[in-house]
Amino acid sequence: MPFDKDEILPQVQTLFDALEPKKLQELDHAIARWKGKPTALMQVMHVAQEAFTWLPEGALERIARGLDLPRAQVFGFATFYDHFYTDGPARNTLRVCKSISCHLRGAGELIEAAQQELGIEPGKITKDGRVRFECVSCLGQCDGGPAVSINDEPHHEVAPEDLRKLIKALK
Ligand code: FES
Repeated sequence: MPFDKDEILPQVQTLFDALEPKKLQELDHAIARWKGKPTALMQVMHVAQEAFTWLPEGALERIARGLDLPRAQVFGFATFYDHFYTDGPARNTLRVCKSISCHLRGAGELIEAAQQELGIEPGKITKDGRVRFECVSCLGQCDGGPAVSINDEPHHEVAPEDLRKLIKALK
């Protein structure tokens, strides 16, 4: 472990304690691996988000301390990039492609349907934590647009009614 318990403020320790041990282990492994490398922050953030599905405050504290970076830099980095989530967790992630190819095939209607069905704007999580809804630039499914993914599983040629059904089925 790269941290000495006696040197950490109790409130920071509480944040660390709230993190699931197995996921914390993955994060610590990444910190140890990337420490001192110029691209470390981006790499470690990705590992953290992969492990936790979002970036809890405790994980960001852990990254700042582990990489010897100012806390403000790490928290600023996390909030600057759209693909890092500082709110969460969400049980499901819905992504709708908004790029031109899917747009020409009706992505706009899918986005509207998702907004209505979920009652939230893109980039938000439903109040009950059931779904995170995002509009993204491409899902790598351009031939089968309009495309969406649910928990990384792609769906092709999706009609608004299909999407409503898929959303309703999410627990
Ligand atoms: S343009 Fe929509 S999946 Fe690539």
